[in-house]
Formats: sequence, structure tokens, C-alpha cells
Amino acid sequence: MGYTIALAGKGGTGKTTIAGLLVRILKERKSGSILAIDADPNNNLAEVLGIKISETIGTILDDVAAHPDEIPAGMTKDRFIEYKVQSAVYEAQGFDILTMGKPEGPGCYCYVNNVLRNVMSKLIKDYDYVIIDNEAGLEHLSRRTTRQADTLLVVSDATPVGLRAAGRINELAGELKITIRNRFLLVNRYDKDLEKEKIKNTGLDMIGQLPVDEQLTKISLNGNSLMELKKDAPLLAKLITLGDRLCKS
Ligand SMILES: Nc1ncnc2c1ncn2[C@@H]1O[C@H](COP(=O)(O)OP(=O)(O)OP(=O)(O)O)[C@@H](O)[C@H]1O
Ligand SMILES: [Mg+2]
Repeated sequence: MGYTIALAGKGGTGKTTIAGLLVRILKERKSGSILAIDADPNNNLAEVLGIKISETIGTILDDVAAHPDEIPAGMTKDRFIEYKVQSAVYEAQGFDILTMGKPEGPGCYCYVNNVLRNVMSKLIKDYDYVIIDNEAGLEHLSRRTTRQADTLLVVSDATPVGLRAAGRINELAGELKITIRNRFLLVNRYDKDLEKEKIKNTGLDMIGQLPVDEQLTKISLNGNSLMELKKDAPLLAKLITLGDRLCKS
């Protein structure tokens, strides 16, 4: 069973960046297979890792809906979709990545979620590490795409709004009885004057704080990959020091 780290937090706090950097750190520093899952319907994890993907669970569902005649005789539609999704796992250098995406058109994406949940529970067994980037907010918890993580890593900035959101995510994770072994708070773009009380109010154990990184700002503005961040970049260096605690079972 792969060691699973799921990221959560308010919009724009740095979930995707940190998910991407964790993939990079695991790839460069640990032996073992890695699966990155982009479970945000507005996906961009592959992009920040420098990969162009053409298939997502969303596009597969659109394809199957448009060409139902392609479902082989004797195979159910669900089984066919599952098979197509498993073969859409993209093999990058040093890690694999699966992107949820969303089907075209308005409405609920419950179905794409169900497919992700089913496929995920099978795929997790085939890897040593699984990193799941989620959309902002709490929805992924109630939809239970985050249901069996070893570590829930709640990312927040140092603002009261971000920290309150982190606290709510922690409460909901507790109420939903999701099997999560560790829940940590990671403060990104930290403020040296951040009061301990505000951190304590989230109910989470703070694993550390990450600095604003000028190198990352440039990389992000140019649309370049996180793989280009230099090894001594403050953000990467700090995250490496937290890595061992994150992966402790
Ligand atoms: N420590 C940091 N230093 C500098 N820039 C950062 C830092 N952390 C994140 N950023 C930048 O902030 C922006 C938002 O980060 P990111 O996309 O990782 O957030 P997110 O939580 O995934 O957002 P969303 O909720 O929209 O998915 C990006 O442009 C990223 O490069
Ligand atoms: Mg994101």
C-alpha cells in the first residue's frame, strides 16, 4: 500500500506547488515508485511538473459518452471506463501522474469523482508513494476522494482567513471519520509575527513554515516547471527538512 499524502487548503495557498515539490523531493531523494494524482477539476499539477497531458478522467468520460459503441461486448461501461483510466496514467520520468479533470458541460462532477475514487483505491496499492493535490475548500473531503490518506497536509497562508479555513478542514476531517493517520498544518509564505494562538486555534499540529521564494515567483511568472527550481532555493531546501516527518507512519 502506497504512503499517501493528500493536500488541502484555501484557494491559492500553494497546494499544487507543494504537491509538485513533494513529488520532486521523493523522486530525487527516495527510492520507490511515485504516483501523483491531480484531483482538482481545474487541473494544473502536470503543468507545474513540466508535463503536457492529453487525457484526463474527464476527457475519457466525454469520449465514452460520445462513442458508446466502442464499449467491447461483454464489458460493462464502468469496467471499460476503469480500464481506460488505468491506461491513461501518464508515465513521466521518475513518477506517474493521473489527472482527474472534468467532463465538458455544466453540472455536477459526481461521476468523475466516483471513477477517481474507485481507480485510486486500486492504484494506490501499486505505488510506494502517492501525492494527491486537491481543489481548494472542503468538497473533496465530503466527496471522499480524500478518504484513506496517511497524511493530510493542510496548507495555509499566515492570514486569519487561511487559518480559519485550515481549522474547518481539520474539523470536517475529524467528523467524517476518514481514515487519516496524521493531520498537519503547513504555513506557506510565513509571517514571522504569526501568533502561536492563531496556529493553535486550527487544532492542527504545525509541521513547519515555508518562505516566499523569489526563484519560484520567476518560474511561475514564466510558466516554467518546478523541476527548474534550483536545489538551494529556500522553499525547496526548507521542504526537504520537513520531508521525513511528513512521510513518517
Ligand atoms: N512560497 C512561495 N513563494 C512564492 N510563490 C509561491 C509560493 N507558494 C506558492 N506560490 C505561487 O502562488 C501561486 C499559487 O500557488 P498554487 O497554485 O500552488 O496554489 P493552490 O493552493 O494550488 O491554488 P488553487 O487553490 O487555485 O489550486 C502560484 O503562482 C505559485 O507559484
Ligand atoms: Mg492548486
